[in-house]
Amino acid sequence: MLELNSIRTKLASVKQDHLLRFFDELSSDGKQALLTQIASLDLDAVPSLIETYVKNKPALQLDLATLEPATYYPYNHRAPSRPWDHDKYTTIGEDIIRKGEIAAFVVAGGQGSRLGFDGPKGCFPAGCITQKPLFQLFAEQLLAARARYGIHHVRVGPGSTLVNAGIPWYIMTSPLNHKATVAFFEKHSYFGLSPTSVRFFQQGVLPSFDLATGKILLSSKGEVATNPDGHGGAIRALDLSGALDDMKARGVKHISYFQVDNPHVRIVDPTFIGLHAAAPDSSAQMSSKMLPKVAPDEKLGVFCSMQRQGRRVLDVIEYSDMPADLSAQRLPDGSLRFVAGSIAIHMLSVAMVEKLARNPAFSLPYHRAEKKVPFIDLDSGQPVSPTTNNAVKLERFVFDAIPLCEGSIVYETDRVEEFAPIKNASGTDSVESSKRLQTIRAARWLERCGVAIPKDAAGEPHCVLEISPLTATSADELKGAKLPAAIERGSAVVL
Ligand code: UTP
Repeated sequence: MLELNSIRTKLASVKQDHLLRFFDELSSDGKQALLTQIASLDLDAVPSLIETYVKNKPALQLDLATLEPATYYPYNHRAPSRPWDHDKYTTIGEDIIRKGEIAAFVVAGGQGSRLGFDGPKGCFPAGCITQKPLFQLFAEQLLAARARYGIHHVRVGPGSTLVNAGIPWYIMTSPLNHKATVAFFEKHSYFGLSPTSVRFFQQGVLPSFDLATGKILLSSKGEVATNPDGHGGAIRALDLSGALDDMKARGVKHISYFQVDNPHVRIVDPTFIGLHAAAPDSSAQMSSKMLPKVAPDEKLGVFCSMQRQGRRVLDVIEYSDMPADLSAQRLPDGSLRFVAGSIAIHMLSVAMVEKLARNPAFSLPYHRAEKKVPFIDLDSGQPVSPTTNNAVKLERFVFDAIPLCEGSIVYETDRVEEFAPIKNASGTDSVESSKRLQTIRAARWLERCGVAIPKDAAGEPHCVLEISPLTATSADELKGAKLPAAIERGSAVVL
C-alpha cells in the first residue's frame, strides 16, 4: 500500500487532510484506490490554485490600447476585402490528405452536463431521421474521405506494415466516459472503420473545489471529486498517451481538431488544410475556423489580435471577458467590428503540439467555472446533491495555445454548412436546433443539384431531410449522387 503517513503529512501541509476523513471506513482495496488517486494529484499546486481561482476570480488583463479585430480569410474568396486563391489552397490541401498527412482528432472527454444525456455525448442519437450517433456521423465522414482520397498506405506500429487504414482518428476521452466510449465503438464494429485507425486516450483530471471553503471535495468516502481538465488538456494528453508518437510513425503532420457536439463539422476540409499549411501569414502551427457573430451578445469567443510581449498575437477572447461596448462596436456598413466568433474547429501541426507538450515550462492558463458538484458532507458522511452552484471547476482551453504560435490564421466558414452543435436539451444549440439545421443544409445541397424542395410560409423546408456523409459531405459531392427530382411535402427522406 502506498505510504499512508507520507500522504497524510503531504495533505496536511496543503490543508486538505479532510480527504482521509473516512479512510478507516474503507475496504483494503478502497483504501488503496483512494491513496493512489490522491498520489496522482498535483498537491503542491493546490494552495495557489485555491488562492488564485477559488477564493478569487482573476480578471483577464486585456490591453485595450492594442486590441484589434482579427483579420480572416473570407468564406467568399472573391470578397473585395481580401480575395484569395481558393483553388490553389484546395489543391494543396487535397495533396496533403492524399499523402496521408492528416489525422482527425475529436475532444470527447467533457461532462456534457447541459445535455443531460446518460452516456458519452458522442453516443447521442443526432441524425435527424436515422438517429445515428454523433460518433457514427464522424466515422462516416472518415470513410467517405478514405474512398474519395484513396489514402491507402499508412504505416502502423513497429515494423513497416502497410494497411489500408485511411485517416487515423484519435478520440480523447476522460476517466468518466472512457470505458463506455470504447465499448460503444466495439459494439458497433467501429462503424466500418479499421480498428487500427482508431485510437482512444484519456485526458487528465483536476480536483473540484468547494466554492465556500476552497477545500477539495470528496465525491464518495473513498474518492476525490475531480473533473476533466478541459479540452486544453489535449496538448499534454496527446503526448503522454503516445498518440503523438503514433501520429509521427504514421507520417501525420497536421491534426484536424473538432468537438464531439457538432455533427456538421467538416473534418476533412481540403481548403482549410491548404490555408493552414501554406497561406503566407500562416506558420502552419495552429489555425482556426470562425463564424461571423449574429449579435454582440452571441456566446462565442471572439478572435482578436493584440500586442503581447513585444509581438502581435492572435487570441480568442471569451464572450464574458469582452467589454460590452467593444462587442457592440459596428463598422460603417453595420456589421460587427469584432465579428469573428470561434466555433472550436482548428488545424494543429504535430510539430507544434510536440513543441508545446515537451516543453517543461509549457502550461495553458486555467479558466474557472462555478458548477453543481455532488459531494460527501464531511460532518455527516452523507452524500449531497446540490441544487445551486457549490463548487469551482478549473479547466484549460485549447484556444489558449493560439497566441503561442508564430502566425495563426482564421478562415471564415458558413453557419448552415458547418455549425449545428448539440449542447443543450432544448433551445439554442440543442437537439432541436441541430436537427432543424441538418434539414436546412440538406435542402440547400439538394436545391443546388436541381431538386425541388417543398417550403412552408416562412420559407423553411416542409420536410425532414438527412444526407449521410457516405452519400456526400458537401453540395458538390452530392452532384454525382442518384437523386429524386423533387421531395414530397411533409416527407422524411434519407439519402
Ligand atoms: P463543452 O464546453 O461543451 O463542455 O465542451 P462539456 O463538458 O462537453 O459540456 P457541459 O458544459 O458540461 O454541458 C466542448 C468540447 O470539449 C470537450 C467536450 O467533450 C466537447 O467536445 N471537452 C470538454 C473535453 O474533451 N474535455 C474537457 O475537459 C472538457
